[in-house]
Amino acid sequence: MARRKRVGILTSGGDCGGLNAVTRAVVRHARDYGFDIYGIKDATMGLLSRPVAAEVLDVKGVSGILRYGGTILGTINKNNPFAYPMPDGIVADRSAEVIEGYHQLGLDALIGIGGDGSLAILNKLATQGNWNLVGVPKTIDNDVGTTEHSVGFHTALSIAVEALDRLTYTAISHSRVMVLEVMGRDAGHIAISAGIAGGAHVILMPEIPYSMDKVCQKLLDRKARGHNFSIVVVAEALKTEAGDPVKYTNSLDQSLYGGIGQYIGNEIASRTGIETRVAILGHLQRGGTPSALDRLLGAAFGVAALDLVAEEKYGRMVAWQNRRVVNVAIEEAIAQYRSVEIDGALVETALGLNTYIGEVNA
Ligand code: F6P
Repeated sequence: MARRKRVGILTSGGDCGGLNAVTRAVVRHARDYGFDIYGIKDATMGLLSRPVAAEVLDVKGVSGILRYGGTILGTINKNNPFAYPMPDGIVADRSAEVIEGYHQLGLDALIGIGGDGSLAILNKLATQGNWNLVGVPKTIDNDVGTTEHSVGFHTALSIAVEALDRLTYTAISHSRVMVLEVMGRDAGHIAISAGIAGGAHVILMPEIPYSMDKVCQKLLDRKARGHNFSIVVVAEALKTEAGDPVKYTNSLDQSLYGGIGQYIGNEIASRTGIETRVAILGHLQRGGTPSALDRLLGAAFGVAALDLVAEEKYGRMVAWQNRRVVNVAIEEAIAQYRSVEIDGALVETALGLNTYIGEVNA
């Protein structure tokens, strides 16, 4: 009897809503092909462990997980195997060990679910180690090129919109400006989408320069017209007006975003005299129940990814384009970073709503 095909699956990078929907879809669809699915623990860390940290997943084991937040497989967004920080402070190339982990498991293919950073690392490992890799795009930042949607964005967006709804009530009650800082790394997708859907009056994101005077003028104009509150959304990677990044280093020497919202809030309060409060949404955007759209997208991507394995089409990433699941070269997907399109529909919409989104024509 022919040996059953062994397909590994791992989630890599920051967790987000919809990852478990991908895992469940892959495992369920594997019955159609008679493949064994090996769930690899904690991304490449599982392949680095000896014995390799992986277990065979069956349909019973993934039953109901599409409504769970996080990822049952675990994940990491550090410890790049090509530049691995060792306990003694030395940075080592441990890619050969990770590559060997795939072969020790006897895998015929690997489905890697990740954002642009993770997919770039997995693709490099696949090239060097003769892996058969299929990619699935996931990231709350929505910045993977060649796909209109990545798993996780919609859940984060829904949470950000709910936060804006909540902040609006307290802003109205206290006649305040409320500033919400959202994630998104270098892209402003969460900021502009949540800002529009949540009715923000000012949306600031890294793609568009802004004037603090204009921000304040907008808020003062609203006050003069009788509005007792305003809502401001700020993307975490926005810089100060002078162009300085606002990041901090924690006790583990990790450089993290967080703080630009407070800078914007302080500027607003001191320049306008309007009482202002700031909320940082942070990791709340990543946890919780996945949205319906992320479950759908995760399911569609999981099924399509396994079909690619069955067709032995490797080095490809599933993508959503024009209402269809297609596949593109992983190389192409990671080469095309996707930021907010200045001439796109969302910018046009925000401008049409008279939302201040910065100096679009500067
Ligand atoms: O890339 C996803 C993301 O949530 C970014 O939006 C954010 O900047 C970063 O990860 C936070 O990473 P960590 O979980 O390491 O704090």
